[in-house]
Amino acid sequence: MTATDPTPSSTVLANVQEYYGKILSSTKDLKTSACCTSAAPHPLIRAALKKVPAEVTDRYYGCGNPIPLGIEGLTVLDLGCGTGRDVYIAAGLVGEKGEVIGVDMTDEQLKVARDALPAFAKQFTYTPRVKFAKAYIENLDAIVPANSIDLCISNCVINLSPDKEAVLRGVYNALKEGGEMYFSDVYCDRRMPEALVGDKILYGECLSGALYINDFVRLCHKVGFTDPRALSSAPIELRDPAIAELCGNIKFYSITYRLFKLPSLETLCEDYGQVATYLGTIPGHTHAYELDDHHTFVTGKPVLVCGNSADMVGRTWLGKHFKVDGDRSVHFGAFDCAPVPGGSSSSPAAGGCC
Ligand SMILES: C[S@@+](CC[C@H](N)C(=O)[O-])C[C@H]1O[C@@H](n2cnc3c(N)ncnc32)[C@H](O)[C@@H]1O
Repeated sequence: MTATDPTPSSTVLANVQEYYGKILSSTKDLKTSACCTSAAPHPLIRAALKKVPAEVTDRYYGCGNPIPLGIEGLTVLDLGCGTGRDVYIAAGLVGEKGEVIGVDMTDEQLKVARDALPAFAKQFTYTPRVKFAKAYIENLDAIVPANSIDLCISNCVINLSPDKEAVLRGVYNALKEGGEMYFSDVYCDRRMPEALVGDKILYGECLSGALYINDFVRLCHKVGFTDPRALSSAPIELRDPAIAELCGNIKFYSITYRLFKLPSLETLCEDYGQVATYLGTIPGHTHAYELDDHHTFVTGKPVLVCGNSADMVGRTWLGKHFKVDGDRSVHFGAFDCAPVPGGSSSSPAAGGCC
């Protein structure tokens, strides 16, 4: 598979390709912690990680944990898969019936990813369905048909794209209805000054291409992801004094967002008297399920939810794990979106309506 020629912003793409293909050769070479800030993954993810060959994990440049549990049988697309760490973790979770496709533009990264496949596959009694494609994430229609993907993941990549709108639009198009983009990336608390965007190291280290959080939310709305939900957020520390000086007062965060492809989502939360109950059936989430940073469903406990949340848990790949009572036939007015007790906090991450 070959990458289609990018016309706009090809210098940015070439610089990033050089950074991840020629300059960095392992995680240790990163100059900031932006690409490697993440909380400890769930034990089931850690177990899946044990099957990933070391030459892959040695070149991990992600900033979060963008792999949900309960994805058995799904078709997963990983944007900017690098050497394939998350592709291989997801492959362990989707099982025999699922499939994982990793996309990246950098030959050196893809070579490590592809070379690791035989060692990974021999640990299974079946042949895991894993593919790596060389492509620009701005041109997803060149590699995956529309409405074919259940789950799109990505770890610290979209900030590097010179055309983030094309990426999100392509993801929306590639997802099936009820599919989801679940991804971790770097964001900042203001629009980045142009001078910093032009700094090759700051850009390559996933800082100066970062989107201002509110602009990200606007972009989501524009392409059809009407109610982006933040799941978790962590501040990024700039430990290098020179980089901290350059960035001044700008604050950076690693945030995991959930974007559902559901045309029924509304820009503000509405109350239709719907009640959702989590069935406790997602592996690793027996007692509770966190939909986002302010919706934690305790197993078996009915919760009054807005129309958007009802559809997120009832009309997506999560649907088999929830019971949703009620529909949108009676409207009771606006839904009070105050965070619920028990949800984890993620102060800087502006979400959509809820
Ligand atoms: C920070 S690294 C993250 C790699 C991987 N997700 C991980 O967690 O280790 C960014 C990766 O995205 C790829 N990338 C950046 N921009 C891209 C683009 N526009 N199209 C395709 N790949 C891109 C780079 O080649 C690199 O492998």
